[in-house]
Amino acid sequence: MRRLKKFPLLVFVCWITMTILYTCFVPMKLRQELKDLKTKLNEQHANYTNKLKLALKTVEKLKDHVKWNIYGMNRKTPNIELVNSRDIEARDTQIIILVTSHIANKNRRDSIRVNWGDPSKFTKHTRLYNGEATYKVYFMTGYLQNHIGNASLESTIHKDMLIMNRTENYWDLSRKFMLGFLWSLENCQFDYLLKTDDDVFVNIPTLFKLIHKDPFVLKHKDRLYAGHMYEGLGPHRNNFSKWYVSKEEWAPKNYPPFAPGMAVILSRFVIKKMVPYFDWVKPFKLEDVYIGMLVNYANVSGVGIRKPVGVEFYDNLQDRRYCGYSSRVIAFHKILDNYCMTFLTNNSMK
Ligand SMILES: *[C@@H]1O[C@H](CO)[C@@H](O)[C@H](O)[C@H]1NC(C)=O
Ligand SMILES: *[C@@H]1O[C@H](CO)[C@@H](O)[C@H](O)[C@H]1NC(C)=O
Ligand SMILES: *[C@@H]1O[C@H](CO)[C@@H](O)[C@H](O)[C@H]1NC(C)=O
Ligand SMILES: *[C@@H]1O[C@H](CO)[C@@H](O)[C@H](O)[C@H]1NC(C)=O
Ligand SMILES: *[C@@H]1O[C@H](CO)[C@@H](O)[C@H](O)[C@H]1NC(C)=O
Ligand SMILES: *[C@@H]1O[C@H](CO)[C@@H](O)[C@H](O)[C@H]1NC(C)=O
Repeated sequence: MRRLKKFPLLVFVCWITMTILYTCFVPMKLRQELKDLKTKLNEQHANYTNKLKLALKTVEKLKDHVKWNIYGMNRKTPNIELVNSRDIEARDTQIIILVTSHIANKNRRDSIRVNWGDPSKFTKHTRLYNGEATYKVYFMTGYLQNHIGNASLESTIHKDMLIMNRTENYWDLSRKFMLGFLWSLENCQFDYLLKTDDDVFVNIPTLFKLIHKDPFVLKHKDRLYAGHMYEGLGPHRNNFSKWYVSKEEWAPKNYPPFAPGMAVILSRFVIKKMVPYFDWVKPFKLEDVYIGMLVNYANVSGVGIRKPVGVEFYDNLQDRRYCGYSSRVIAFHKILDNYCMTFLTNNSMK
């Protein structure tokens, strides 16, 4: 009987123990589960943060690529064209000389045509190099409604004008050379291309000498980029400057090496490699810097970036205020009168 009496107590004790165990055990399990969940979530969070970081990096890279036209499918086709392509006489020659010119500057073009732009003045020098040293000049202009009549006539007479269907604009120098490079590649055989401006005298015999005798040029025949190369120059960040460049246009502090626009020499092969990087929608506005950027982006293996030796590449007559000749200099800048152009040409022919 006594045993039977103890039974409810036993049941009670058991119940208490069970309850205590249960209440202790379940929260512990829950706590463990929560803890596991938390670690898992943290891990996932870390995983996603990493993935997000990677994705952001990729986006940045893509932005760069789009900017530089690596994937810019829409930009690969030129959105400008030549209005007079049927007039232009394509010529196979060793050196194509492309001269940027304002459509209204007929006087300057005529001065070049009868002076250094006339190969018949330099037959003696061509013979010096077994007839291999030859060149042909073309002018690259924009469009102006009230000048197109005269310019079209000029174009049918001389067959040496590349007139693009965009209104003349100082900030279109990049588009001019892009269209000029493309036209030359598609229509002419040539080894080198010299890009210059219509206020420049080009010393043809000195140019021939550079192409045929300079050790660096001979070594980098088909991979040449030459001019009065600037290295370590950067954008003007003061927005009062005419040359102001915003961080959106070019973020880095420095430009790649580039040659000022009055005399830039490139091998045909290098130009061919540059063309796929042309940004037809928004080319960099400083044309000479843009050429340097394109050479850099094209990353031509073994490209030879030739540094200048003294003043050999250009002489700025603006600084001297008189018309003086030097046989060492390839390009003389700021020739605004025909007399000086003729004087320099006469001297170079000797
Ligand atoms: C986190 O990433 C690692 C490696 O990519 C993977 O093994 C793990 O399962 C991921 N964890 C979670 C919670 O997604
Ligand atoms: C120039 O030519 C391109 C290509 O044909 C054309 O899309 C564009 O509208 C033209 N632009 C002008 C200003 O005539
Ligand atoms: C076009 O040429 C004619 C004849 O040379 C000249 O009189 C006229 O001024 C020129 N027009 C322009 C806009 O230059
Ligand atoms: C030049 O910079 C000032 C101050 O940063 C700014 O207010 C102004 O809009 C800028 N002007 C141009 C033309 O970008
Ligand atoms: C440039 O080309 C070389 C091989 O010719 C390559 O190793 C290098 O990664 C390239 N650089 C860039 C920035 O694409
Ligand atoms: C250039 O040479 C030609 C022919 O010898 C001569 O008639 C002309 O006066 C010369 N001009 C100059 C500016 O030297």
